[in-house]
Amino acid sequence: MLSKEQNEMLCRVGPGTPMGNVLREFWTPAIRSARLEPDGAPQRVRVFGQDFVAFRDTTGKVGFLDEGCPHRGVSLALGRNEECGLRCIFHGWKINTDGQVVEVPSEPAGSNLASKVRVNHYPTHEAGGVVWVWLGKAEKPPQFPAFDFVNYPAENIVARKAIIPCNWVQLLEGALDSSHVSSLHRAWLTHGSNMMDGPHPGVMGALSVKYEINDRLYGYMANARRFLADGTQVNRMTEYVLPWFTMIPSTLKTLRGVLAVVPIDDENTHFWDFSWDEAGPTDVATVDRLRNSGKRSHDLDNYFQPRWGAEDVWGQDRQKMKEGHYTGFLALSFEDYAVQESQGTIADRSKEHLGTSDVAIIRMRRILLDMARDYQNGKLPDILTREIEYEKLRPVHEVIAPSGETITPMV
Ligand code: FES
Ligand SMILES: [Fe+2]
Repeated sequence: MLSKEQNEMLCRVGPGTPMGNVLREFWTPAIRSARLEPDGAPQRVRVFGQDFVAFRDTTGKVGFLDEGCPHRGVSLALGRNEECGLRCIFHGWKINTDGQVVEVPSEPAGSNLASKVRVNHYPTHEAGGVVWVWLGKAEKPPQFPAFDFVNYPAENIVARKAIIPCNWVQLLEGALDSSHVSSLHRAWLTHGSNMMDGPHPGVMGALSVKYEINDRLYGYMANARRFLADGTQVNRMTEYVLPWFTMIPSTLKTLRGVLAVVPIDDENTHFWDFSWDEAGPTDVATVDRLRNSGKRSHDLDNYFQPRWGAEDVWGQDRQKMKEGHYTGFLALSFEDYAVQESQGTIADRSKEHLGTSDVAIIRMRRILLDMARDYQNGKLPDILTREIEYEKLRPVHEVIAPSGETITPMV
C-alpha cells in the first residue's frame, strides 16, 4: 500500500515531476527505425507527456526535436523533409537534425534571425530496430542498455509495441508479478505451451509462490519459487532492469526477449517487446507461434488490436469460458492488459491489501521512489553511472526434481 502522495510520485511522469525527471535520464525506446525513411514522412512521438517529432534526413541521420516549430509553434510533423532538414510548411523555416534553423525564407535576405534561434534536439541511438532517445539533463547520456539483442543481425530481431491506455507502473507491476501466471494465464499454460518448450514444467502445480529478491546494481533478480506437492521445486527468475525493463523466464531454447514499459504520458503506455532468436532469422508470426501468444495483431506499432475497453469488458468472451477457457481472451497478453487497465487509469495503491506474493512489486516501487528522491537531491541512479553488463542478463526457468536433479536446464 502506498499513500496518495507516494502513488502520485510513482506514477506521474510529465515535465517537472520527480519521476518524469529521473526517467528522462535513461535511454528511451521511442519509435521503430523502419518508420523513419530518409526524406520520408516525419513522425510524431509522445513520451513522458511531451510531444516530439522524429525524422531521418537525406543522409540517413535521425533528428529528434520538440514538435512545435520555433517560429509560431506549428507541428513540424506537418513539415517537408527535404535536403537535410525539416521545413515547416507554414512559413518555410527549415531546421536540421542538430536543431539548427538553417533557413528563414519569411525574413528579408541578410536577416540573422536564424542564427539566434535554437530548437531543442535530443541525442538518439538505433539498436534492435528501434530509435532510442535521451531526454536527460545530465552532462552526457549514460551507457546504452546493450542487451544481447544488439549482437544479432536485424533479421533475428522482432521489435514491436502495444499501446495501452493506462499508467505505466501497473503494467510494470504485471510484468514483475510472477504469481499471476498460474491463475490469469492458466488456459494458455494448460492447453498450450506458452513460453514453454515441450511438456509443461510445473508452474500450474502450485498457485502460491515464495519470492526471493536479490538486489542488483541494475534493479533486482526476483526468484519466484513454487513448491509442488510431489517435492518438485519450480523457480522462475525474472530480471528487473531499471527503470522499465523486465526479462521473463521461458524455456524456449533460442528465442529470447526483453520487455520495456515506457510512459507515453500519465495515462497511456507503450509496451515494447524486443524478441530475438539466437539461432537465426525470425518474424512476428513465428515469435507468436513459438510463444503460443494467441490471436493478436501483427501490427508492429500496436499489436493490442482489436481494441476493447471497459465498456465491452475488454472483449472477454463468456462463451469461450463456458467452453473451458479460463479467462475468455483471444491472446495471452490481452489477459494482462485487461486486468491492468481494469485497475483504473492510474491504479489507486492506497486501497490495496498486499501479501507475501507481492514483494517483487513492493520492492520495485521502493527502488523507483528512492531513485526519484535521490535524483531530486542531485544524485544520478547507480545504474546510470556504473558499468552494467546488460548482454549477460538472462532470466531463468528452472525445475528441480525431488531428487535435487535439475530437470529443466537453465536457459
Ligand atoms: S510556424 Fe513554422 S515557419 Fe512559421
Ligand atoms: Fe501476464
